[in-house]
Amino acid sequence: MNLPLPEQGSGTVRAGGVYLDACATSPPAAAVVAAMARVLEEAWANPSSLHGFGLAAADRLESSRQALADRLGCGSDELVIVSGGSEAIHTALIGCAGTLEPGRVLLSAVEHPASYAAAAQMVRRGWQLELVPVDSLGRVDLEALQALLAPPTRLVSILWGQSEVGTIQPVATIGRLCREAGVLLHVDAVQVVGHRSIDFSTLPVDLLSCAAHKLQGPRGVGTLLVRRGLRLEPLIGGVQEAGRRGGTEPVALVAGFAAALELAGQRLEAGAGRDPIEPLRDRLLADLLRLEGLRLSGPSPDGPDSRLPHHISLLVSGTDGHPLSGRRLVRELARSGYAVSSGSACTSAGGAAGTAGASAVLLAMGYAPAEAASGLRISLGPWLGDEDLEGLVPALQRACRRLAEGPG
Ligand SMILES: Cc1ncc(COP(=O)(O)O)c(C=O)c1O
Repeated sequence: MNLPLPEQGSGTVRAGGVYLDACATSPPAAAVVAAMARVLEEAWANPSSLHGFGLAAADRLESSRQALADRLGCGSDELVIVSGGSEAIHTALIGCAGTLEPGRVLLSAVEHPASYAAAAQMVRRGWQLELVPVDSLGRVDLEALQALLAPPTRLVSILWGQSEVGTIQPVATIGRLCREAGVLLHVDAVQVVGHRSIDFSTLPVDLLSCAAHKLQGPRGVGTLLVRRGLRLEPLIGGVQEAGRRGGTEPVALVAGFAAALELAGQRLEAGAGRDPIEPLRDRLLADLLRLEGLRLSGPSPDGPDSRLPHHISLLVSGTDGHPLSGRRLVRELARSGYAVSSGSACTSAGGAAGTAGASAVLLAMGYAPAEAASGLRISLGPWLGDEDLEGLVPALQRACRRLAEGPG
């Protein structure tokens, strides 16, 4: 599949303002929409049906599955189609709990809420849950992890790229430690896929979760990669996906996912393995950090492989040093036409118990509650160019001034 790569910053999705919330979701690329429309017109049938309509759909499903497998470095039999990241994570964790003796499951202290929800279900089945601490940059404490890999630990689940603070975990090192201890490893790669090349065949990882909508694919589809030979109890029974996930496969969504991953793969190739959005992110970050009251949260992008290439996370305070509310800044910036976030979209409705608006991730990194409520996330994608970002720094400056002056 060779798709025409749109030019970076070709101006899509400007109608509702400038979209800077790629980590929440991303606008489907035109080639993705076209690939899905073709399937809905030509191969809309049930791929399990034995007539010609069904065979056409099965053909399209399998060619899309193969395209996904080629880009992710896995066998097409190792790829289970699911509805998105949350289902992939639940299938991995609860699926393992269904085939292993209950033991201990380790999660880092900065996982996505879906992982904690799945682990809570494991706890109801007799598992113990232990959280591995992180440092002030959100990096997993490898010594603490290693100490906890002793029995009865049977499963570890780690988020590769942290959606709120951008931290990239050393997955290869964690995988080696897990292999040495004979412990299974699931990796939540939802924020990483599309922004770096992934070769499942060489990763010391047993299960890996992805979602199409973070890389300009459609919402409602994702995949769980399952190392060949690893048994999982399905969440949804049925004959599809080799008995690992029941339900008629959404052929058009899978085709859209394959098209999105193909575009992302071509972009990475054009950038010699690096996401071409990174220089734009670096320029914007340098401009932002010149403003008084803004600091980076999470790792600096200078370190090799330390931070998601499309991600900026800031802590914002007034000129008096007092933290400002990230959620109020998001609303102010939306009025100026910039769509950003105060953290993860999945937690922005709540915040940790008893700390209104505070991010559980920032609290786990050691920030005080008021600082942990002052987070701002800007996440970029290939639909953006320098011209889209020109007014952002002054708009943020105005928003900070308004908040600092107005009633708290
Ligand atoms: C790191 C991470 N994992 C999992 C998910 C859940 O994915 P989905 O929204 O596709 O269920 C998200 C979504 O924000 C995420 O950022």
